[in-house]
Amino acid sequence: MTTYLITGANRGIGLEFARQLSRRGTDAVILGTARDPAGAGELARLVHQVIPLDVSDEDSIAGLSAAVGDRPIDVLINNAGVGSEQRSIEGLTLAELNRVFTINAFAPMLVVKSLLPNLRAGNRKSVFSITSQLGSIANNKGGSSYPYRASKTALNQLSASLANELRAEGFCCVVTHPGWVRTDMGGQNATLGVDESVRSMLAIIDRLRAEDSGTFFNYDGTTLPW
Ligand SMILES: NC(=O)c1ccc[n+]([C@@H]2O[C@H](COP(=O)([O-])OP(=O)(O)OC[C@H]3O[C@@H](n4cnc5c(N)ncnc54)[C@H](OP(=O)(O)O)[C@@H]3O)[C@@H](O)[C@H]2O)c1
Repeated sequence: MTTYLITGANRGIGLEFARQLSRRGTDAVILGTARDPAGAGELARLVHQVIPLDVSDEDSIAGLSAAVGDRPIDVLINNAGVGSEQRSIEGLTLAELNRVFTINAFAPMLVVKSLLPNLRAGNRKSVFSITSQLGSIANNKGGSSYPYRASKTALNQLSASLANELRAEGFCCVVTHPGWVRTDMGGQNATLGVDESVRSMLAIIDRLRAEDSGTFFNYDGTTLPW
């Protein structure tokens, strides 16, 4: 039996993780978070527990820790994220940089911090953070989307530090690009269905080993340049 905790699980990629994991029956215990649990009807039918969580609010992260209690967590899926419409240097504001960095980069680390005792007690010790290929500096040929790109680059760096710090304890901390996926964020022109993206990422999660810690995966299991 494996216990998964998925942030931002009420729609998009997070909800599809809950759908596919729920098909594993008693092999998977799923905890899903949502900013508005009352509006997360499908999620509630799929998971063991829906936990309220706004990742941009430290009190809410403390509430997550209280709700989980001393239950071991095997796999944390840091999925919650936001896009940004600020695409040019002229349009850039500090408020938007702060908002997007807080949710996409800083919050995943604070969630890990709050759940460290639970992850340490788990059998898998896996932290699977959803990044974007737009966070790759090596692949940045297009510019634009300043807050979003840079927040995912920061998430990659923070995850690399996490992997290094927790390696000796047997943790496996990776970042993964889900592909360009048809969700509210990805839009209808995206190339990948949410079912295929999540099926592929679950295949990565299922075969994660400690030696993989610190890897930047593409959804298909290949690696991406930093
Ligand atoms: N779709 C793509 O093509 C694509 C490509 C690369 C990377 N990604 C990444 O994949 C992840 C999931 O994206 P998606 O496509 O599924 O996006 P989505 O459909 O827009 O869903 C985003 C999820 O994040 C949650 N969220 C946003 N702000 C939050 C906050 N402050 N606290 C807690 N939860 C919050 C949302 O909750 P609410 O419903 O309450 O807003 C929602 O559950 C993100 O990290 C995204 O950056 C997506």
